Amino acid sequence: MELKKIYFAAGCFWGTEHFFRKLPGVAATCVGFANGSTPSPSYREVYTDTTGYAETVEVEYDPARMPLKQLVEAFFTIIDPLSLNRQGEDEGTRYRTGIYYEDEADLTAIDAAFNREQEWQGKPLCVEKEPLRNFYPAEEEHQDYLIKHADGYCHVDLKAFRYAGMLKELESLVKGVGDEVGVMANTAALIHETMGFWWTGFYRVADESHLALGPFQGPVACYSIGFGKGVCGTAWKREASVVVEDVELFPGHIACSSASRSEIVVPVFDSERKVRAVLDIDSDKLATFDDIDRRMLEIAMEIVAREIY
Ligand code: SME
Repeated sequence: MELKKIYFAAGCFWGTEHFFRKLPGVAATCVGFANGSTPSPSYREVYTDTTGYAETVEVEYDPARMPLKQLVEAFFTIIDPLSLNRQGEDEGTRYRTGIYYEDEADLTAIDAAFNREQEWQGKPLCVEKEPLRNFYPAEEEHQDYLIKHADGYCHVDLKAFRYAGMLKELESLVKGVGDEVGVMANTAALIHETMGFWWTGFYRVADESHLALGPFQGPVACYSIGFGKGVCGTAWKREASVVVEDVELFPGHIACSSASRSEIVVPVFDSERKVRAVLDIDSDKLATFDDIDRRMLEIAMEIVAREIY
């Protein structure tokens, strides 16, 4: 197992570290200051916003368990990539967002995640992507801050922490199981229970024309969905996640239950990027799913796909 390091600036480093340390495949984290101009800066100096440093988290990870592309996708979960020098309540160049790398070869994975995010946002991102010039660990009191201070200030949406913990459980739950139905059944149960959803399940590609109902948690559901039909068939056809805030406004939505109000569907790809199934999650409330759900569920489906396809 060869560990690698990558550096993320995502606003206040307390919440950023708390998020990354929960993810599967992350071996160690350290909060500090990156890419500034003065040697060995203190927190107080950086706080003046005149040193050029960004509050940054050093993440040591195992690429076999958490490929860099997925790690960068997870990073996008906890930032507003369109906001310049401001995340949550925090403003200043020290709270800018950035990905800083030591190994030029990392750029391939970083660019892949970066470009995908930019495409999804449809606008240029305000996120730096640069070689790491320097990194100084912050004072001990800032390390593991939100473990030492459970009620401490945190700009990260708590949902992202719940997802990060869920991903770690998912990784060990499905590891080495191999059986598609078993993995899907336990994955649906874990996501459903951890996140408190209303309906969580899989539809599997049965042939070129339709999806067939797979393992799920929640009320009874439709057996079959055509290619390009409903939200599930659309995600399959587009080969991309679909987030629906109000199912009544989605043309062709298939109502398995009239109680379903909003929905997210995430494709599950095999190693040849062929859609083999979709994860479908329904809510009985409007606008339940956002970019955090989308990004984290996409990572979850990559963990699942790696084990069964
Ligand atoms: N609403 C989905 C069908 C599946 S059920 O919601 C469980 C769709 O439009 O594809």
